[in-house]
Amino acid sequence: MSRVNLIYARAKNFCIGKDGKMPWHLPKEFVWFKKHTMGCPVIMGRKTYEDHKSVLPGRLNIVITRDENYQAVSGIELVSTLDEALKLAFKQKDEVFVIGGVHFFTEAFPMATRVFETIVDTEINGDAFIPEFDFGDWQSELLVASKPDAKNAYGFSVFERRKNTLETLIKSRQN
Ligand SMILES: NC(=O)c1ccc[n+]([C@@H]2O[C@H](COP(=O)([O-])OP(=O)(O)OC[C@H]3O[C@@H](n4cnc5c(N)ncnc54)[C@H](OP(=O)(O)O)[C@@H]3O)[C@@H](O)[C@H]2O)c1
Repeated sequence: MSRVNLIYARAKNFCIGKDGKMPWHLPKEFVWFKKHTMGCPVIMGRKTYEDHKSVLPGRLNIVITRDENYQAVSGIELVSTLDEALKLAFKQKDEVFVIGGVHFFTEAFPMATRVFETIVDTEINGDAFIPEFDFGDWQSELLVASKPDAKNAYGFSVFERRKNTLETLIKSRQN
């Protein structure tokens, strides 16, 4: 079965970015991002790509831009819509990750069955904010709660959220 996953880290006030960059440097959080996405195609908007301008290794990197003349580094696949990106990604694997930014999280949320949501323990006065997605009907599992330390300025919590499909509802009634 083809699965669309979302993965992001957001502040308590839903900010995910500032001045085209991530608003924090959290190496510990990046370990989770890498762990979950490794081996799967990753789909991102052009601005998210420009935050790092490199290929995330071990993953098919798909960047969405409307600019037909856009030049990206070698190894990046360029497409012009999310649908095109998903088609390309599913040719390689049945599990894909949308990794940003705001528009693509919003467009992909209705088709997502799993969301890895990191909540960073701060509020940021940034310029990229995701909407407050409704996880009311979803199952949520706290994967890790991390405290600030010398290399990670903020604490954070990683949640895995799974949409209740008919299959999970039947399973939960059997338990
Ligand atoms: N905290 C996190 O987890 C996280 C994750 C990802 C990104 N970020 C941050 O978020 C910011 C970037 O995200 P963003 O939302 O500003 O940009 P984005 O979604 O990464 O990129 C936007 C670009 O995507 C292209 N695009 C193609 N079709 C589009 C459509 N229908 N609607 C909108 N864009 C379309 C356009 O590129 P062209 O202009 O080339 O046509 C547009 O400028 C950065 O600060 C980044 O660091 C944070």
